[in-house]
Amino acid sequence: MKEANTLVEYGTVINANVMVEPPDVAELILDPGHPGENDLGYIERRKELFALCRKHRLERLGPPFITYNAEETRIWREVSPKLDELHRKHACAMYLKAKDDLAITQTEIPQLRTLSERVNRETNMHLVPAEGALPYRTFYEYIAERGFPVTQFIRHGSHPEFTPEPDMIHDCLGHVPPLMNQDYAELLTLIGKAAATTRKGDQVLALKRFSWFSIEFGLIEEQSETKVFGAGILSSTGEIPHSLFSKDVTRRPFVTETVITTDYDPSYMQKDFFIAPSLPFLRRELEALVRRFGIPVL
Ligand SMILES: [Fe+2]
Repeated sequence: MKEANTLVEYGTVINANVMVEPPDVAELILDPGHPGENDLGYIERRKELFALCRKHRLERLGPPFITYNAEETRIWREVSPKLDELHRKHACAMYLKAKDDLAITQTEIPQLRTLSERVNRETNMHLVPAEGALPYRTFYEYIAERGFPVTQFIRHGSHPEFTPEPDMIHDCLGHVPPLMNQDYAELLTLIGKAAATTRKGDQVLALKRFSWFSIEFGLIEEQSETKVFGAGILSSTGEIPHSLFSKDVTRRPFVTETVITTDYDPSYMQKDFFIAPSLPFLRRELEALVRRFGIPVL
């Protein structure tokens, strides 16, 4: 049996071939089987954060300041050192520098408002508070405006290394640090602009796959070593060694034509990985793809 993955992407589709846009829900709904589904205290806290983050998102107020409780801090202190040990060995240099520049520690949960201000000074990106998964078009529209939607809730404490949905650990330790890099920021923004502009399902699917195999699950060549830069890998203690060392996965050079025709399943540990030679390479490839598709965003 395949091991369950530790995350799903925002605005996800269960199968990459099925373009289902989740509804814009105004209330917290935990999926059946969620580790916190029978924990009333957890559900109450999630509802509180859901309402607060949704209000801040819709009213464009920026990330709210959150007073994290002892249990949330305990989970952060349990998971983040394990990830950090793996990051120091396997993350790409760009990520490690950004993580240090952002002063993300293993003891205190960072405030997204502070991270957003720092990222904004560096690359003119900013963080948008998200109550949970957003419809994919909404998600890409924020990115097109140089905003990255991020959650502020923490996974359930019964399974600190597992989350069935993107949470703050995934976002903060996976997605936020690379936003400090200009090439990465431009790559991401262009994906957002193109995906938010085209109305052709096959083009959206190609862009989602390009994003999945780079932003979410990308590997990168660095001084003849393979390093990690995808957020889905960086935020999972299982995916980091799995992506680099498992004999059950493919690791191929990033060839755009192959990437945009390769399916993925967010529900499980990934089985296909692509190694990009550099971030500028990915930018050039994406620009060429967007031009080929005739999407007027360049
Ligand atoms: Fe993600």
